[in-house]
Amino acid sequence: MAVSFNLADIIESVLRSAAAKLNLADRGFQPEVRVAEPMHGDFQANGVLAYAKRERLNPRALAQQLVAQIDELNPYFDISIAGPGFINFKLKPAALLTWLQDHDSEEHMRASAASSGYAGQTWIVDYSSPNTAKQMHVGHLRSAVIGEAIGRMLGFCGARVVRDNHVGDWGTQFGKLIWAYKHHLDSAALARDPLEEFERLYKIGNQAAESDPAVLEAARQELVQLQAGEPANLAIWRAINAASLAAFQQIYDQLGIHFDEILGESFYNDKVERIYRELTGCGLAEESQGALVVFHPDHARFKSQPFIIRKSDGAANYASTDLATILYRTEHFAARGVLYVVDKRQSDHFDQLFLTAKKWFEKTSRHLPSLEHIDFGTVLGENNKPLKTRSGDNIRLKELLGEAIARAFQLVTEKSPDMPETERRAIAQVIGVGAVQYADLSQNRSSDYVFSWDKMLSLDGNTAPYLLYAVARVHSIFRRAGINDVTASTVGATPFETRTELDLARKLVGFAAALNLAVAQLRPHYLCTYLYELAGQFSTFYNADKVLVDDPAVRARRVLLCARTLLVLETGLRLLGLQPLKKM
Ligand code: ARG
Repeated sequence: MAVSFNLADIIESVLRSAAAKLNLADRGFQPEVRVAEPMHGDFQANGVLAYAKRERLNPRALAQQLVAQIDELNPYFDISIAGPGFINFKLKPAALLTWLQDHDSEEHMRASAASSGYAGQTWIVDYSSPNTAKQMHVGHLRSAVIGEAIGRMLGFCGARVVRDNHVGDWGTQFGKLIWAYKHHLDSAALARDPLEEFERLYKIGNQAAESDPAVLEAARQELVQLQAGEPANLAIWRAINAASLAAFQQIYDQLGIHFDEILGESFYNDKVERIYRELTGCGLAEESQGALVVFHPDHARFKSQPFIIRKSDGAANYASTDLATILYRTEHFAARGVLYVVDKRQSDHFDQLFLTAKKWFEKTSRHLPSLEHIDFGTVLGENNKPLKTRSGDNIRLKELLGEAIARAFQLVTEKSPDMPETERRAIAQVIGVGAVQYADLSQNRSSDYVFSWDKMLSLDGNTAPYLLYAVARVHSIFRRAGINDVTASTVGATPFETRTELDLARKLVGFAAALNLAVAQLRPHYLCTYLYELAGQFSTFYNADKVLVDDPAVRARRVLLCARTLLVLETGLRLLGLQPLKKM
C-alpha cells in the first residue's frame, strides 16, 4: 500500500474489480462502502442488497462470491458477511499499526482524506461580508467563524479556495452619513475610534433627515454626488471604508482569518450595466413601475414577488451586485462553486438569486458554477431571544471577544497561578477566542444556539477548553518523558492488544471519514463531534493503559497512539480555525 491511503476508497475499488470479474459491473453494481458501526467493524459494503434485489439473486450467496474474489484485502481486514448480505471489514491490529505508523504528518492525513472530490477545483467562500461604517456585532460572528472553517476544510481536501469578503461598502446609508460627516464631525473622536464616530454620525444624519425634509433632500444630494463620482464625497466614502476595514481586520486577526479578496459591493458598480443589458436582452428582466425586475412564473411565491434588480431611482441594489458578482466569479476565477455563508433569514434572496442566475446562464449558454447558500441560525441569549446587551443593543464582537479573553484569563489563573502573567495572557487569548469559535462550530449550523459563557468555557464536555486541554496533556506527557523524537520513540512497536488501545487506534483511523462527512455536508460540527469523541477515547485509553511502561515494544506502540492523537487533534483544531496550545 502507498504511504497514505483512503481506506474506504481502497475497499471500494477492490470490490469494483471483483464485481467486474463476476460481470456484475456492467449491470450497475455499486459497492456502497460506508463507515461501519464500531461493533460491526470499520467499514461496511452495503451495495449487495440493492443489487441482489434488483437482479433477483440471493444476497448472501452473492456476498460470498464477492468475498471470495478479494483476497488481497485479507492481510489488512477481517472480512465477514453479516445479516442478509452486508460485507463487514474490520482492520486487523497489525494493519491499524501500519496505518498509524504511516500517517505521521498533516500531509499524510490530508492524503487519507482526499476522496471528497474537491481536488484542483476553485471554490469561492463568500463569508463575513459585513456592511461598512458599522461595528461588527454578535450577528457577524457565525459567518466569519463558519466560513473560515469551511474554507480551511476545503483547502485541506485539495481545493483552490478563494476567501472573498463581500463587504457592503455601497448603499443609501452613505447619503446621510456624508451629510453628517460634513456638518457634525468630531475629529478627535474620529482619531480615537473611527467606527464609533461613524455610528454616531449616522444616527445624527438619520434623525436630522427624519425631522427635517431639507436635510433629507441634502442627504439625497450627497448620495447622488457620491454615485456621480464627486471627488470630495468619494474621499469621505473611501475614508469610511478604509477605517471600517482596519477595524474589521483587528477582529479577523483575533479569529485567525485572512481573506484572499475583499471585493465589496462597490467593486461591481461598473459591472451592473451589463447585467441589466443581458437580463433584459434574454427576456428575463422587465420594467415594472420604473424598476427592473425578474418574475419567476414557475415558482409558487416568486411568480408574484419580483426580484428587483434595479431600483426605480435607477440605482443598483443587493440583487444587481450579487448577479454581477456571480458573473465575475465565473469569468475571472473560473469558479467551480460558490459558497455563501450567510444568515438563513436571507434565504429568499438567495433562492431568487440562484434561480435567476440559472435561467440567465442557460439562456446565454454559459456554465453556471454550483451556488450554495451555507445558511446558519441565530445566536440566542439565555432567554432564547437573539443575544443583546441588557439595554437591548447589539453586542459588539470586539467586546464579546474581549470578555471571552478576560474570562479565560481567570480560568487559567485559577488553574495555574504560578505561571508568569504574560504566558497566562497569551494562553487566555487562545482559549477565550477558541471557546467562542468552537461553541459556534460544534452546533449544527442551521440551528439557533444559546450563547453560554459557562458552557463554552467549561473544561468538561464538547468545548474548546476540553480539546485544547487534551492537546496540552499529550504535550506534557511527552515533555515529562523527555520524548522529542516521536519517530525514534515508536520504533519497534508491536500491534495493539488491549481493548482501549484498539478502540483508540480505530477512532484515529476514523479521522478521514469524519472530515469527509463534514466536507460533504459543509457542516463543521461533524468534525467537532469526532474530535470530542477522540479526546474522550484518548482519556479512556490513558486511564486504562500506562504509557511509559518498561516493555519497549508496548511503550513504543502506546507512545505512537499518543503521538497520533496529538496529530489528529491539532490538525482538526486548525481546520476549525483554532490554534492548538502546547501548554495550558
Ligand atoms: N453584507 C451583507 C449583510 O450584511 C451580507 C453579504 C453576503 N454575501 C453576498 N454575496 N450577498 O447582510
